[in-house]
Amino acid sequence: MVEYNLAKVGVEGSNPFARSRSVKAVVRSERCCVDRGGKDAGGEASFVNLIELNMKIIIANWKMNGNVGFVKLFIEKINQVSTNNRIIVCPPVSLVSFFGNFRYHVGAQNCFSRIAGAFTGENSPQLLKELGCSYVLLGHSERRAIFAESDDFVYEKWLAAVEQNLMPIVCVGENLQDRTRSSEILTRQLSRYQQKDLHNTIFAYEPVWSIGTAKIPSAQEISTTVAFMADMLAHSINYNIVYGGSVNAANAETILACPGVDGILVGGASLDIDEFRSVIENCNVELLETDQKIPSRTRNS
Ligand code: 13P
Repeated sequence: MVEYNLAKVGVEGSNPFARSRSVKAVVRSERCCVDRGGKDAGGEASFVNLIELNMKIIIANWKMNGNVGFVKLFIEKINQVSTNNRIIVCPPVSLVSFFGNFRYHVGAQNCFSRIAGAFTGENSPQLLKELGCSYVLLGHSERRAIFAESDDFVYEKWLAAVEQNLMPIVCVGENLQDRTRSSEILTRQLSRYQQKDLHNTIFAYEPVWSIGTAKIPSAQEISTTVAFMADMLAHSINYNIVYGGSVNAANAETILACPGVDGILVGGASLDIDEFRSVIENCNVELLETDQKIPSRTRNS
């Protein structure tokens, strides 16, 4: 069993995203300063407090789609877009090395729970970091359903990713048959992450019945569920919650405006470059009055 040193996990003890209620307004020039560089040298995520800067998180999950030609086109077009928000693209891992001149961030769609060894076909978080990934999706519903990934296994991967300073994006959400008992499912999926030293984790609420179906929960349902998740994580620090499931250019802004939603996770719509560009542009809203636009959520430190 690999020993993980949680004490040294995390990023210099800083909280990249956690909200601060004390920040009333952020002037546009400040945001531009942070955003202009896109990413830090070496492909590191810039661990600034994005939420204090009114940034939202926009993640693209290409799943097993795309090719080298598509990457080139995608970079060419998306690099032209300026945004206040944090953009993270998760292509198939075999395409990551073609993102060298991408101005935004790159993530992987999965990693293994060990650093090295006889694990044919797997990629360690360390290798993903070397390739240029700063983020990694974990426990996506397709991996839970097709590859039988358990909550324990996803948690082990989370430990390994955090150990390597690869920021995990942990996906949770209920199936259609569990829609009326989503709190029970989320409680099971999130219980391992209720810890004070939870470092730099993004949780993605993706109701499975919404993925690729064009069916999305109401804004009220999204906010209620996200509030439930925040309650579960109330003793944790350094986390954010994004929503995923049938997000597109037409609904992205509305979803982002749901109380408690820090970002979006986009599947199919991220494979249409113009559509994804519109997602980014439509979400590029001016949010000067933080306390009005982003409701309070108390996070204990
Ligand atoms: P869609 O946006 O295609 O519904 O996919 C959502 C998803 O699974 C992102 O991880």
